[in-house]
Amino acid sequence: MYSKEELQRGLKTKIIGKKLFTFDTIDSTNACAKTLAAAGTEEGAVVVSDFQTKGRGRQGRSWFTEPGTNLLLSCILRPCISMEQVGLLTIFASVSVGRALQAVTSTVVECKWPNDLLINKKKCCGILVENSINKQSLEYAVVGIGINVKQKSFPQEIKGRATSLALEFGTEFDRREIFQKVLEELDVLYSDVGKGNFEPVINEWNARCTMFGRKITVTQAETKISGTALRLSDDGGLVIDTVEGKKTIYAGDVTVIV
Ligand code: BTN
Repeated sequence: MYSKEELQRGLKTKIIGKKLFTFDTIDSTNACAKTLAAAGTEEGAVVVSDFQTKGRGRQGRSWFTEPGTNLLLSCILRPCISMEQVGLLTIFASVSVGRALQAVTSTVVECKWPNDLLINKKKCCGILVENSINKQSLEYAVVGIGINVKQKSFPQEIKGRATSLALEFGTEFDRREIFQKVLEELDVLYSDVGKGNFEPVINEWNARCTMFGRKITVTQAETKISGTALRLSDDGGLVIDTVEGKKTIYAGDVTVIV
């Protein structure tokens, strides 16, 4: 369904998507991009597939979408950044997709820590960044992006929290247009991020996040941490004010209480 030529025609990027690998079905675009990156494929290369049989989500979860409905893509990056900045690549990808979806839908798109994009408070996109670290430096990163474009139904367990552009706007968006917009926003922001300047994306992520100052609970496996969400830490964690003092967390599912 995705022709490489169609996806690249008119694409206005310098790096991202200059090389494109397209599939009808694949196990996971992230897994494929990691294999390609390990074999030396250049930065900016993008893998896109119409369907994944083993789509990967955060915390070892699976990411399932119906065939022919959504956008599933992964991008190889080789940024010159410090180890402390690696966690900020999710922030960079979130802001890029947020900008792209906002441009296409003319609706405010919210960032939710750590890796979600919300429209009308429901998740329409998830991001999974996977890294290869060698001798304390980043060899490559794979930025995986799953955007729910046309999917109309979701499994029972996520039904109340997940959505798609089709469900929110009652219209079918063009996946090619969204694909190109996402790549173009990644490309624009990467001119700073690739050199280690995350300030613009951190500022925009903060402006798109509505949980600061609110009471939240973070669930990490068997543990729950409650407190007030304060800010993003310099390395992409979430700073929370708890009864035991300030804590920075790096993983977990956030529920906003009030
Ligand atoms: C999450 O748990 O919210 C992250 C989901 C990330 C899913 C995308 S779909 C494209 C890419 N390939 C994968 O296997 N996962 C990511």
